[in-house]
Amino acid sequence: MSAVPMPLQSVFDTGPWSLHHLARVEQALSQWVGVDAPAGLGDAMRYAVLDGGKRLRPLLVLAAHEAAGSAGASAEGGAQAADRAAMDDAALRAACAVELIHAYSLVHDDMPCMDNDVLRRGKPTVHVKFGEAAALLAGDALQAFAFELLTPGGSDIPAVTQATLCRLLAHAAGSAGMAGGQAIDLASVGVALTEDQLRRMHLLKTGALLQGSVLMGAVCGRASPTAYQALSDYGAAMGLAFQVVDDILDVVADSATLGKTAGKDAAADKPTYVSLLGLQQAQAHAQDLLAQAHAALARSGLPDTRALAALADMVVRRSY
Ligand code: IPE
Ligand code: IPE
Ligand code: MG
Ligand code: MG
Ligand code: MG
Repeated sequence: MSAVPMPLQSVFDTGPWSLHHLARVEQALSQWVGVDAPAGLGDAMRYAVLDGGKRLRPLLVLAAHEAAGSAGASAEGGAQAADRAAMDDAALRAACAVELIHAYSLVHDDMPCMDNDVLRRGKPTVHVKFGEAAALLAGDALQAFAFELLTPGGSDIPAVTQATLCRLLAHAAGSAGMAGGQAIDLASVGVALTEDQLRRMHLLKTGALLQGSVLMGAVCGRASPTAYQALSDYGAAMGLAFQVVDDILDVVADSATLGKTAGKDAAADKPTYVSLLGLQQAQAHAQDLLAQAHAALARSGLPDTRALAALADMVVRRSY
């Protein structure tokens, strides 16, 4: 194991846009997560969430929020400005909530009963550092807190928006999304899946939360039905590309660069895009999916999708 600390900056922070939003997300997470949790639980929660991670999902929420909101941007009166402020607050909360679900999924994914990993984000995994019971509870508490963040008391965020964000996140995290995909993953050890079966597993275990991030941002930006559908298609293609690249990086990158143990998929006999298609075809498939993501943005009718386009590019070109 090579425990090299991950850089604090995200691989996605290539410009002022990302730097600005990453700083907002880090600040909010640090302010909110694990505060006042008893008996060491807060330490495990904060360890799981802070000081690491590329923060792709929060950036997707914020980029989709801005892209969808850009369609309606014009001179506005007091009521519209107040609504915009409330929806900005909703988007930041959604950005943090999805990162909490993601962080919890990593804590549980690494546990001995699942992938049994000792390295995550350049640090020992939560169960290695705090013990299995604490890791289990930290994951539980992060998941619950995600939904609390989306439903603040006394807020100006419309109740229907709060409910819609909860529904999208619950759907992406549950049996029709991440948890369901993880169940397929565990049931598929040593099994030769067809490409359709592998696609479904990846769309659920990883794609759903990435697509859900985009959809939550779209809701906060009050996207039109046409834009919402296009952003959904973008999210599905980009989300699948993300896991195809994760499969590739597991083979071609080293543990120090990844901040997690390389070569785990083959060692555990997991079906992946590399095991199914070979390295070159897996890379070509990621490029195809990237083109599909860009095509979806082009038909969204939205005036400014540059941040979403750049994030999709980085999903495929990243080195960790
Ligand atoms: C890793 O996700 C887990 C998968 C879904 C493949 P990320 O690569 O986004 O992990 P962090 O958040 O940057 O650590
Ligand atoms: C896990 O996929 C996706 C999750 C839902 C956490 P992997 O098991 O491939 O993720 P890594 O490679 O450990 O980050
Ligand atoms: Mg796994
Ligand atoms: Mg894993
Ligand atoms: Mg992996």
